Amino acid sequence: MLSVRNISKKLPDGRPLLRDISFDVQKGEFVGILGESGVGKTVLLRCINGLTKPDHGEVIMNGDGNPEKINEKRGKELRKIRRKIGMIFQGSILVKRLSVLENVLTGGLGRMSTVRSLFYGFTDGEVKRALEALNQVGIRSLAHRRAETLSGGELQRVAIARAIFQNPHLLLADEPVSNLDPKNTEMVLDFLKPLTEQMAIIGVFHVPKLVSQYCTRIIGIRDGRVVYDGAPTLSDHDLERIYGAGKTVAETSIN
Ligand SMILES: Nc1ncnc2c1ncn2[C@@H]1O[C@H](COP(=O)(O)OP(=O)(O)OP(=O)(O)O)[C@@H](O)[C@H]1O
Ligand SMILES: [Mg+2]
Repeated sequence: MLSVRNISKKLPDGRPLLRDISFDVQKGEFVGILGESGVGKTVLLRCINGLTKPDHGEVIMNGDGNPEKINEKRGKELRKIRRKIGMIFQGSILVKRLSVLENVLTGGLGRMSTVRSLFYGFTDGEVKRALEALNQVGIRSLAHRRAETLSGGELQRVAIARAIFQNPHLLLADEPVSNLDPKNTEMVLDFLKPLTEQMAIIGVFHVPKLVSQYCTRIIGIRDGRVVYDGAPTLSDHDLERIYGAGKTVAETSIN
């Protein structure tokens, strides 16, 4: 499904950020990426969806038996591959003045012609699917509310409905729950997890305990390298490898 091969990326000042990162992800996996703030997790997700070009290495998507190198594509070709990659980024991506339903529908804009999307000419079938996606995350009743009137938890559920509507092969989620209270965090993760029946999910998280609870695999990054890749249960020793000396499970679970 996704192959990240020997990715490296330097910062504009020449400092190496990512050094030789490799991993493969298959449909059905829910991968949690852990690492200290500033280690390069967001940059890694941006390399995966082609928003940032790595200096070396390859990112290969193979969602439908037709492998494509994302790092070599640009323009129209890149946009075409990106339609198969859903994104849930913390709080940023909804259009506030549009309704919830319009936000879900326009998440699929990449797959329409520009002219059609300009006039928001959605078919009855598309509207029905979008409403079904909202129903799946329990906010069908909010379909006609303006996005700016929703709570943080509701906004994240709209973002998930949009990803369901887009039906991607791969879903990237950058800190999808970091601003949510425990109840909404659980709800959002409960909606995300079953999506792995149809796709692979890679999420960035800051709470190892949550990752152990919901993910099928953890990738830990430190000093630009993968220092842990395996089961979603971490010992104090594993946490130390990812976050440095002195961190214990108890400490990292609460922040
Ligand atoms: N376009 C850029 N120009 C200069 N520096 C950048 C750029 N993008 C990222 N960085 C730097 O690269 C480092 C890694 O950034 P990144 O956003 O990937 O961190 P992160 O692991 O996602 O951290 P956090 O957990 O805080 O979100 C940071 O020090 C950041 O300032
Ligand atoms: Mg980040």
